[in-house]
Amino acid sequence: MPYTTPEGTNDLLASQARLWQKAQFVAKQVFETYGYELIETPKFEITEVFSRGIGEATDVVGKEMFVVRSGANYQKACEQGSDEALKLKQKLSLRPEGTAGVVRAAIQHNLVPQGAAPAKLYYMGPMFRSERPQRGRLREFHQIGAECLGSTEATADVEMILMLLRFYEEMGIKRENLRVLVNSMGDDACRPAYRERVRDFLLQHSDDLCDDCNRRADTNPLRAFDCKNPGCKHVMSEAPKITDYLCEACAHHHREVIDLLANAHVDVVEDFSLVRGLDYYTRTVFEIQSTEIEAANSALGGGGRYDNLSESLGGKPMTGLGFALGFERVAIALEDSGVELPLADNLDVYVACATRDVAHQAFSLLQDVRNAGLSAEMDHQGKSLKSQFKIADKLQSRFAIIVGPDELAQGNVTIRN
Ligand code: HAM
Repeated sequence: MPYTTPEGTNDLLASQARLWQKAQFVAKQVFETYGYELIETPKFEITEVFSRGIGEATDVVGKEMFVVRSGANYQKACEQGSDEALKLKQKLSLRPEGTAGVVRAAIQHNLVPQGAAPAKLYYMGPMFRSERPQRGRLREFHQIGAECLGSTEATADVEMILMLLRFYEEMGIKRENLRVLVNSMGDDACRPAYRERVRDFLLQHSDDLCDDCNRRADTNPLRAFDCKNPGCKHVMSEAPKITDYLCEACAHHHREVIDLLANAHVDVVEDFSLVRGLDYYTRTVFEIQSTEIEAANSALGGGGRYDNLSESLGGKPMTGLGFALGFERVAIALEDSGVELPLADNLDVYVACATRDVAHQAFSLLQDVRNAGLSAEMDHQGKSLKSQFKIADKLQSRFAIIVGPDELAQGNVTIRN
């Protein structure tokens, strides 16, 4: 049997590949007007970058990471029955998201020296999570993300949301089909007390919660807000609201974000159950949902502030915030709302050979046409002239150049429209 793609992965073909190119182009155009620069980080990192950064108790780290080992290290781990003997630098994982790697890079290369303006960085590429595959939920998916490192003000939070909305609009998604959810996660001053309240609440409702949520009461109570189980969702809708527990500084920051969004005419839903699936968030979190896609996978993108992430990764204090959007979800939103996908560019010239014995001259003419900056193609399968015309038609070539022995003898070719 021929091989197929691994479960939860896709080949990006034809219109999907062109859409991915378009998304990257739009991101570059939009993000660069906001002062962002491209950064490329490795597709895998030392596992601790993710476990320390994103949090051991998150599903992303606890259940969904693809572990990477070199052949020799795999052997060593097998012989000893565990990873224990491996050094830190030998324990690697495919990146499940981009933020932890970007912050690792900012620390490593001191991208935000004391007193400098924020570093504004964007990235695009594949991410890997071992989730149960379904429409809009893949094991290899593509994200476009942006991170603003070193800013503290609420204006930076709102700029992020506006930039993300601008991207969707430039891609052809209508603003009225987007829902903007916003919440605050508080900070080290106010979140511990809130976490305790949620823990107490989980313990009070343990009979109505799933096993995972009962475990979360001990490990990471706020993760219960992420549970997909309908019973747990119902219970959590009555849980204490973080906005009632924010300290003065976080409440002020949150208010500023909401006011600035209103000034920018962005309608927002303040959703206290929005905690997002990653542990690094402090203060603002946001998510942009499509109103047209089924609820479970409606998040087209999301992000927030992570003012303590640098320190979790061993760096100096460095505030930050960002977002990532899922390309496959954007593709679904466009498809479901009937937006036409980008078409392939038409060919400029098809060079056809009237007989096989002029193929070499036709081939050198083909190079001349391409060197002149036109797209050009010829037959490489020894097809008849009639078949070559059919292919030229299929490629919607604007012109055909017909190379024949008689014309060549006089230094001519025939050009047809
Ligand atoms: P996230 O919410 O985990 O955040 O992922 C961002 C987006 O990636 C989601 O809204 C969704 O569109 C897409 N996505 C996530 N998982 C999958 C999947 N399995 N299949 C298809 N699409 C998926 C982050 O990754 C954070 N790093 C965002 C961020 C940046 N926060 C601050 N800076």
